[in-house]
Amino acid sequence: MAKMSWIEKAFVNRRKESNFLWIIDSLEKANVFIHPGSKMLDIGAGNGALAALLYDHYHPSVLLAIDVDPDQVKLAKKQISSKYGKIPAGLSVEVADAIHLPYPEEYFDLVTAHLVLHHLGNEMIIGLREIHRVLKSGGIFLYVEGPYKIRAFEALSEAGFTPIYRNGKRREIVLSKKS
Ligand SMILES: C[S@@+](CC[C@H](N)C(=O)[O-])C[C@H]1O[C@@H](n2cnc3c(N)ncnc32)[C@H](O)[C@@H]1O
Repeated sequence: MAKMSWIEKAFVNRRKESNFLWIIDSLEKANVFIHPGSKMLDIGAGNGALAALLYDHYHPSVLLAIDVDPDQVKLAKKQISSKYGKIPAGLSVEVADAIHLPYPEEYFDLVTAHLVLHHLGNEMIIGLREIHRVLKSGGIFLYVEGPYKIRAFEALSEAGFTPIYRNGKRREIVLSKKS
């Protein structure tokens, strides 16, 4: 993995749930309806702020917030526990690597990755195939990318995703796995 520098960590770890509200907005604009009780995976969860927002907004039965960096997992666990008093039912924060997702095929309804794909470097296509594998048919992958976005876009189509919504300004793309 490409490790975050301390400057990047300091910046990333200041993010709050309100910084991710536009992700919910993008899913609505893409006409994606996430049912309560859905199963979700947030990859590269950082401090857990996006996971907490998804949890409150969509009431999933399962929401796994994963990060390859144990320090980030520790921080996300701490922040989530302090918000809810404990890690709430259905929400887990785990150390896991995007390129070896330890989850069954066709398991998740929604996978999110906010500013994570560029960390995968040459292994991006492996990570995308993993995401494709764990998503249900018709499931949704929402990613936001800054650097290498064009390379990521090519890799996404190679991995089997179909774009359904793109917000050029925010640089997020919602994709579906073919049903
Ligand atoms: C720029 S930060 C974004 C964090 C969070 N998504 C956010 O937007 O606040 C990228 C995160 O991806 C994690 N990461 C990097 N490579 C990863 C991998 N192979 N699998 C899972 N997480 C990874 C990093 O540890 C870091 O927490």
